[in-house]
Amino acid sequence: MPRFEPHPLRRPALVTGASSGIGAATATLLAAKGHPVALGARRADKCHELADALKKDGAETFAHALDVADSESVQHFVSAAADALGAPEIVVCGAGDLSAERIHELDSAGFAAQVGVHLVGAHRLVSQVVPGMVERGRGDVVLVSSDVVRAPRTRMGAYVAAKNGIEGMARVLQMELEGTGVRASIVRPGPTMTGMGMGWDAETTGEVLEEWVKWGLARHPYFLRPEDVAAAIAVVVEAPRGTHLTLVEVQPEAKVR
Ligand SMILES: NC(=O)c1ccc[n+]([C@@H]2O[C@H](COP(=O)([O-])OP(=O)(O)OC[C@H]3O[C@@H](n4cnc5c(N)ncnc54)[C@H](OP(=O)(O)O)[C@@H]3O)[C@@H](O)[C@H]2O)c1
Repeated sequence: MPRFEPHPLRRPALVTGASSGIGAATATLLAAKGHPVALGARRADKCHELADALKKDGAETFAHALDVADSESVQHFVSAAADALGAPEIVVCGAGDLSAERIHELDSAGFAAQVGVHLVGAHRLVSQVVPGMVERGRGDVVLVSSDVVRAPRTRMGAYVAAKNGIEGMARVLQMELEGTGVRASIVRPGPTMTGMGMGWDAETTGEVLEEWVKWGLARHPYFLRPEDVAAAIAVVVEAPRGTHLTLVEVQPEAKVR
């Protein structure tokens, strides 16, 4: 008799921020591993495109528009995904955006908007999905944080505040979910080559990088690929019952000399 009931064979996954970067790579990897996957982001066309491509490779997928800043949109996404694929066993909260203002130059609406996407957006998902997981006695919730929690970076104060908030929320969630069978985990990527920051103009990008160097934050020029972070997320959600990877930080390895 196992100490814990093993995961079911079929584990539907919801992935937010699935139109690009880490979310798209995570949806792709989970689908390749046999999980039915629901992809959500504001650019629904990109989610549909990826979902269709994965379907051609034999995956079970679903795509739907999602704005994590809007509670109604989150409700629609979660219920449409459950209708299409069944109750979610895995949720990956990866939606997020980044602007490059200094805190004192950012207006409070802009500050609140970033917190609203990263932190409240993750909570919107958690509040929609976790009660059902608790009822079923199992489930995995991955909150994508950032290494800025350990080593804050200039020009992203609202983002740093939101990611600290996510980790605070995750820690409490872990305590509150202890003994329910539901595992909440933090995955904390370091610098990753994705769509994030790609909208900055060259001057801003140059300034930001100089400031990071000044604060000792750019130790080497290698970035993670989104697939590297997706691989860590897959390890977290596929950890066997009886184990819980509570926090995984992923950093790019430096070039071998
Ligand atoms: N790149 C890095 O260096 C790095 C490092 C640490 C942590 N992270 C975290 O990794 C996560 C994924 O980011 P990424 O690096 O993969 O960047 P990305 O390529 O820009 O992807 C961000 C995703 O979030 C979605 N998104 C943004 N706002 C949204 C909203 N309101 N509602 C729904 N979806 C929204 C975007 O899709 P739409 O625009 O279509 O909505 C996109 O799919 C973020 O939480 C980010 O903070 C990234």
